[in-house]
Amino acid sequence: MSPPPPAPMHGVLLRLLLVLIAASPAVLCDNTNHVYSPCGDTTVQRSDGFTFGIAFSSRTSFFYNGNPSVRLSPCDSRLGLSTSSSSSRLAAFRPKVDEISLLTVNTSSFSPDTVGGYMVAFAGKKYAARSLPAFIANSTFTVTSFTLVLEFKKGRLENLHWKRDGCASCSGKSNFVCLNGQDCAIKTSNCKNHRGTVDCSLGIQLAFSGTDKHFSALNSWYEVENLRQYSLYGLYSNLRDSLTSQYNKLF
Ligand SMILES: *[C@@H]1O[C@H](CO)[C@@H](O)[C@H](O)[C@H]1NC(C)=O
Ligand SMILES: *[C@@H]1O[C@H](CO)[C@@H](O)[C@H](O)[C@H]1NC(C)=O
Repeated sequence: MSPPPPAPMHGVLLRLLLVLIAASPAVLCDNTNHVYSPCGDTTVQRSDGFTFGIAFSSRTSFFYNGNPSVRLSPCDSRLGLSTSSSSSRLAAFRPKVDEISLLTVNTSSFSPDTVGGYMVAFAGKKYAARSLPAFIANSTFTVTSFTLVLEFKKGRLENLHWKRDGCASCSGKSNFVCLNGQDCAIKTSNCKNHRGTVDCSLGIQLAFSGTDKHFSALNSWYEVENLRQYSLYGLYSNLRDSLTSQYNKLF
């Protein structure tokens, strides 16, 4: 007995099923984090987007009453960073959790040294976390490449820290000087935003560590450590003169 010929309806149903199947992986991997402000609290799982901020200002402006041990978030109005009289700038990013990302801040119309020369990465409100201020630039030196580790515990951001390589990435490169044994810097006068020729946009390589809200380990930090030679900096050809990662291995 041969099966009956397919009715036209089957074709429609089949197409509908295919659409559903095609859509379902997207649904499964979809973002479940609906907090889009860097000043809100959230917990995340892998494949979520996660919003955090970077504030640019002077080092002292990140301390409440000049006290370095009180780490207030830039979202906290007591720091006064969001008032119109403050010269600070704010950038918000939304990388995918546990994916290695390279964030860039285009400095063609923004000179970090003129707004104070330091930056702090932060997220959260009640459970606020923030990094220490990192030196970017003054009138003499500019640091253009950074690695930021976002550390989560059960999906909640616990800590953000700048990872330094002790100038290993710029040793022997004549354009760079090593500042304080930790940061590779170029002369600010070489930067395009100071009439030089080098694009001194900032590159911030991002990595995740700790656990998500389902206790899954976030591993991208280990990948950054082990796979440095595959650094994303290589993809940004217009930054190669100012960024110090090991892009030479790729190009
Ligand atoms: C920054 O913006 C300028 C002007 O739009 C552009 O020419 C330059 O390539 C940009 N740099 C980066 C790193 O995107
Ligand atoms: C710029 O920063 C470097 C490194 O911290 C420091 O040695 C230098 O004195 C500073 N220059 C100015 C003009 O502030």
